[in-house]
Amino acid sequence: MRKTAIPPEFIQTLHDKLSIEDVVSSHVELKHSGRTLKGLCPFHNEKTPSFTVYPDTESFYCFGCGAAGDVIAFIMRIDNLDYVEAVKSAADMAGVAMPEDGYDDSIMKLKRRLLSANREAAKFYNSMLYTDKGRAGLEYFINRGLPQNTITHFGLGYAPDEWDALYKHLRGLGYSEYELITANLARRSAKNNSVYDNFRNRVMFPIIDLRGNVIAFSGRRVNENDERKYVNTADTPVFKKGDGVFALNFAKNSGSKQIILAEGQMDAIAMHEFGFTNAVATLGTALTREQANLIARYAEEIVICYDNDEAGRKATEKAVGIFEKTGVKIKVVTLDGGKDADEILRTYGKEKFERILNSSNNETEYRLEQERNKYSIATEDGKVKYLKAAAEVLASCSPVEKDIYSAKIAEELGVNKNALREQIEMAASRLKKQKRAEESKAVEKMLFSSFEDKNNPQRQQKLRAARAEETLIASFMKNPDFYKKLKDTFSPDDFTTEFNKRIIKHLIGLIEDGYSTDLSMFNSEFDVEEMNTVAKIAISAGSLSNTLRECEDCIAVIKAESSKPGTDAKNMSDEEYLSAFRKNNNGG
Ligand code: UTP
Ligand code: MN
Repeated sequence: MRKTAIPPEFIQTLHDKLSIEDVVSSHVELKHSGRTLKGLCPFHNEKTPSFTVYPDTESFYCFGCGAAGDVIAFIMRIDNLDYVEAVKSAADMAGVAMPEDGYDDSIMKLKRRLLSANREAAKFYNSMLYTDKGRAGLEYFINRGLPQNTITHFGLGYAPDEWDALYKHLRGLGYSEYELITANLARRSAKNNSVYDNFRNRVMFPIIDLRGNVIAFSGRRVNENDERKYVNTADTPVFKKGDGVFALNFAKNSGSKQIILAEGQMDAIAMHEFGFTNAVATLGTALTREQANLIARYAEEIVICYDNDEAGRKATEKAVGIFEKTGVKIKVVTLDGGKDADEILRTYGKEKFERILNSSNNETEYRLEQERNKYSIATEDGKVKYLKAAAEVLASCSPVEKDIYSAKIAEELGVNKNALREQIEMAASRLKKQKRAEESKAVEKMLFSSFEDKNNPQRQQKLRAARAEETLIASFMKNPDFYKKLKDTFSPDDFTTEFNKRIIKHLIGLIEDGYSTDLSMFNSEFDVEEMNTVAKIAISAGSLSNTLRECEDCIAVIKAESSKPGTDAKNMSDEEYLSAFRKNNNGG
């Protein structure tokens, strides 16, 4: 399987010029910790650093979420790029020119075509507003109070009430049927095979990424009888649902340290219009980790400003939980007096909204209030329960916050402040213990992983062999000479798990052809998810004894196991499983 044919020599040059530390540092604040560097993982939400960079192997590994790889895999993940794009981006950073041709950049070319089709579509939708066909769209925006310059600023538009107005237009500009369907601008009818526009009779909101590309659209009905209120672009090669953040392209330049997060794009638009140019919206209420991480990169403080209804409150609670792990400060706004930001701004104006923003709760206040609402503190029982819950909330707070809020609550409930403090300290020490346990579990999982590996589904059944295979691979990666000495004593076909077999074959190819065995030489063969496993194996080389003898032992185990039928971990008792686990881990 060759995904590309970027010459390995080129990858090697890149690898020599680009340090993973430098590339990661521009996204993650790293601190030295022994021979590694640590920081907050950019791929999942966390408060304590488990993202680790290993300069020795030029790799990274996150103990929290399991993401791992080399510098190219890092770029692929962080910028959501495919392999060739990431190599290009790395080449730019290193200041070297890409090889002329010979590699497969078809995905990259397709993405470019889709982005350009989206851009043309946005232009088309916008121009429709000023034609007869688009009157309904323009009227809709005018009725909602949007001035002309707002429409232009956000590139809003209208998809005509026709089956294939956009499709025809873009075909005329040279885009193929395949491209338009892949961009989710058009769809094919299952009934009669005809191709028609995905968005019809809707006002259109383009979603623009931070590079200024139109990556998707959200279309709102103008006819309230239409079944679906909003139609959003489905997943395409240039857009993943839950990745897009409306207006972040503007908000990141607002100069404010805060970002205000609204539920709907109409809210974000209204806020911009009234001067709050740091507002963004997720498309709908379900904030994803990816969106939160992206927003958190551009803000020190996030102000959650969801609708004032049941759905909005539920979504707020979830959003607080997600943002909590990104390390940004959180504030929560309660939109008293209106259903959403749009309504409040347009009914009461800027000053009222500003007052609401300023009276927003910080995260601790918000959480305390949530708990308080759960109990009736008029009763003794309710009081006790609330105090316990409040202690849990305050347990993870700073000393100053603990002091301020415990005094407040003690006074409010007429209880002794010291009793509450004691309660808080107890909760805090419980929390600490729990964290420590989680951390050591994560380390164990990494080093002695007998857990399932999606990339290597046979691993659990053939644990003993798999561990030996991995040790052998790691040793050869580190010491290609060991392979040369032992190559006649085993065959890659002795390997019992298919995934490890693929790794060893690729590795042998590199060694035989005289290339380096760095992790970066594996990206062309393994996809970004598979690289998690390859990287983990490479990193584990650091804890091996790295002797020829160790390799010989591994080969012996692999050969012995390959002639045996695998033990099925699923049918093992816990004890059997544990003993197999120990055996395998003490071997190396
Ligand atoms: P709302 O229903 O609150 O929409 O959904 P809104 O923006 O206030 O719309 P108006 O004011 O009635 O025009 C909030 C956001 O959730 C997404 C949209 O992005 C919307 O802006 N949404 C809502 C969907 O994606 N699909 C839906 O069916 C509804
Ligand atoms: Mn709304």
